[in-house]
Amino acid sequence: MAKQFDVVVIGAGPGGYIAAIRAAQLGMSVACVDYWSTADGKPAPGGTCTNVGCIPSKALLQSSEHYEHAQKHLAEHGVKVEGVSLDIKQFLGRKDTVVKQNNDGILYLFKKNKVTFFHGKASFGAKVDAGWSVNVSGEQTEELVAKNVIVATGSSARALPGLDFDETQILSNDGALRLASVPKKLAVIGAGVIGLELGSVWRRLGAEVTILEGAPEFLATVDRDAAKEALKAFTKQGLTIHTGVKVGEIKKTAKKVTVPYTDAAGAEHKVEADKLIVSIGRVPNTEGLGAETIGLKLDERGFIVVDDDCATSLPGIWAVGDVVRGPMLAHKAEEEGVAVAERLAGQHPHVNFDTVPWVIYTSPEIAWVGQTEQQLKTAGRQYRSGSFPFLANGRARALGDTTGFVKVLADAKTDEVLGVHIVGPVASELIAEAVTIMEFRGAAEDIARICHAHPTLSEAMKEAALAVDTRALNF
Ligand code: FAD
Ligand code: NAI
Repeated sequence: MAKQFDVVVIGAGPGGYIAAIRAAQLGMSVACVDYWSTADGKPAPGGTCTNVGCIPSKALLQSSEHYEHAQKHLAEHGVKVEGVSLDIKQFLGRKDTVVKQNNDGILYLFKKNKVTFFHGKASFGAKVDAGWSVNVSGEQTEELVAKNVIVATGSSARALPGLDFDETQILSNDGALRLASVPKKLAVIGAGVIGLELGSVWRRLGAEVTILEGAPEFLATVDRDAAKEALKAFTKQGLTIHTGVKVGEIKKTAKKVTVPYTDAAGAEHKVEADKLIVSIGRVPNTEGLGAETIGLKLDERGFIVVDDDCATSLPGIWAVGDVVRGPMLAHKAEEEGVAVAERLAGQHPHVNFDTVPWVIYTSPEIAWVGQTEQQLKTAGRQYRSGSFPFLANGRARALGDTTGFVKVLADAKTDEVLGVHIVGPVASELIAEAVTIMEFRGAAEDIARICHAHPTLSEAMKEAALAVDTRALNF
């Protein structure tokens, strides 16, 4: 017999599990279905983010940064370490432990909030009197029925045409997070977020990394000053990045992958590598969902079509996260999940896409919110800009990490902050202040007048805000 709930959530990634918890907090009876499994078949909720995305990549970035520090930077601090070596089993094992802690944490939160979890694949059955029917198949076979269904099925790595991921030589993010040894030579196609983060991990461990990017500009959507500063730092670290290339037919033998490419000037080259990461964007997961059974509208790229409220083409069916338009970010998925749950409870939430922060967790980190200088110019907006380099920040000098800057863009008349761009240490944490100010539609002067603790990296934010009015104190 079908099990009846107020809400069924399909997918337990950051969009789905957060929507499920919020709906349960608001008094609804909630089921959440997800098929992700551990190697031994146990449920592994958390989606791409927890299993093969945000969390494991940050764990490996941290460990590889420690390794590089021990090798190259601790001596500057007078700390002598000899015979530094890598225990790759421990390196990967620690990451797996961190992932499992997050999987278990979500299962605990489901219990705590009385969300009923089903481990299996969900697909739409039909519209029934009591709502939508969702079939769960796999280890558990069930029919669930609910008035409202939230689809949060996420995304998967996009493959190059004719080159499937085998996860041993041709790697998506999944294989790139679990290489059993450090490749001597690693090629990466796509100098986006994944290419830069995972390219950095394996470079720090000793791989010779070449990244081939199709777009003519490096990090084309990032503020030009920030992209330029980051490229300079990455090149100095030893990442080889070629932009404006056209990749040809890739060949692989048992030992080697050969990637031919034409450079921006039309000259032909090739990269020979032990492994290849293909990180050229991601595609929405709707296969097997039964969208066609119920007539759920997808766009030409396969995303579920939603309005500003995440309502789909069908009443009572909602969709959030990577499977719908907008940035493919965990925090964006979460905000949408919360908003849909609150809407179902009769509330009037709003997700402000203008203040969604972006972070690339390389070293230096790159973080931004709002508009770039180029976007403001194109829009014909009058603005003032203030920058402050970490080189002039006492805490950054004490840390020994002075690459980068904070740049604040504000409206020329009203001084409202329109965009903040940071390249530098823990930019991921510093950006939160900018998001808060922008959410309150604050001015650069507001940041400048707030007392920031000394010595902190956050003083660079204050100084950049002062610089908007050409009155930085320490530069
Ligand atoms: P997902 O996390 O993809 O979850 C979807 C879930 O749905 C999965 O668990 C899947 O098993 C399940 N599912 C799919 N179809 C079905 C079905 N039919 N039945 C049952 N279950 C189903 N974002 C950040 O904000 N910060 C980061 O640092 C970051 N790092 C990343 C690093 C990497 C390497 C990658 C690949 C991504 C990273 N992202 C990061 C992006 C982030 O992972 C995604 O934006 C986020 O996971 C999207 O959440 P979601 O809930 O929409 O989908
Ligand atoms: P991406 O969109 O960030 O970068 C893809 C890059 O590949 C682009 O620069 C694009 O120009 C290039 N490209 C596309 N096709 C190409 C081709 N045929 N040849 C050469 N270059 C080509 O996508 P990526 O890195 O795969 O990541 C997917 C998404 O996952 C990101 O957009 C982001 O939303 C999310 N993510 C977020 C992270 C974070 O927040 N720190 C970390 C990792 C991923």
